Amino acid sequence: MNKQLRTPVIAGNWKMNLTPDQAAALIGELKPLVANADCGVVLCAPFVDLAAALEAAAGSNIQIGAQNCHWAADGAFTGEVSAPMLKAVGVAYVIVGHSERRTLFGDSNETVRQRTRAALDAGLTVILCVGEYLEQRQQNITVEVVRTQTKIALAGVTAEELGRVIIAYEPVWAIGTGLTATAEQANEVNRAIRDLLAELYGRDAADRVVIQYGGSMNAANAAELLAQPDVDGGLIGGASLKAADFAAIVRAAG
Ligand code: 13P
Repeated sequence: MNKQLRTPVIAGNWKMNLTPDQAAALIGELKPLVANADCGVVLCAPFVDLAAALEAAAGSNIQIGAQNCHWAADGAFTGEVSAPMLKAVGVAYVIVGHSERRTLFGDSNETVRQRTRAALDAGLTVILCVGEYLEQRQQNITVEVVRTQTKIALAGVTAEELGRVIIAYEPVWAIGTGLTATAEQANEVNRAIRDLLAELYGRDAADRVVIQYGGSMNAANAAELLAQPDVDGGLIGGASLKAADFAAIVRAAG
């Protein structure tokens, strides 16, 4: 109903793909295809690709993001990258709490909250991922799971800071599987997240938050998903690695 308050954002999550040269080439291909986009366009690159991606995207409407950040600003954390470091190289967005980080690398609701805090403190916009496992959907606890993930991640986040938070609802069973939530399933959970935000921040603030869907979104199914009243964009994995497919999703959001 209040969709006009929000500009959709289509974000690519390249995951652990592409060398710097390949990243620059993909952005070069993408730039003319998305130049007239009516939505925000973000590409979240591996750390080592960020410099090349930023250079390739300079002067265009493509923004660059990272895929994770540590919760400390600096310190003895071998192999990690901090939010202020990302900000310093010109990154604007960071994904936090992706299900692959939660499942494979031990991220918990509490570490996701700490990463969210660090990213906001550094001046980044956070793409906060939440989503249920298949068993949880089968047990009818999807909304509880997603509410808990969202509520803990946002603990301490002010209404003003909420303006730099995008939430991505990504059902784990739909990621990389070719299985997509139906448009109704996606909208139902996105609406539940917005209702939680209204409880926490008031309806007006909640109506301004971009809530994406992610999980096997592609050129063929994007338009139906993006037409839903509470689906304000997408977080795209596999299809973000192909310029034509990603550009088609961007067009579907316009
Ligand atoms: P796929 O689009 O490959 O299913 O990945 C979704 C995702 O995890 C984006 O973060």
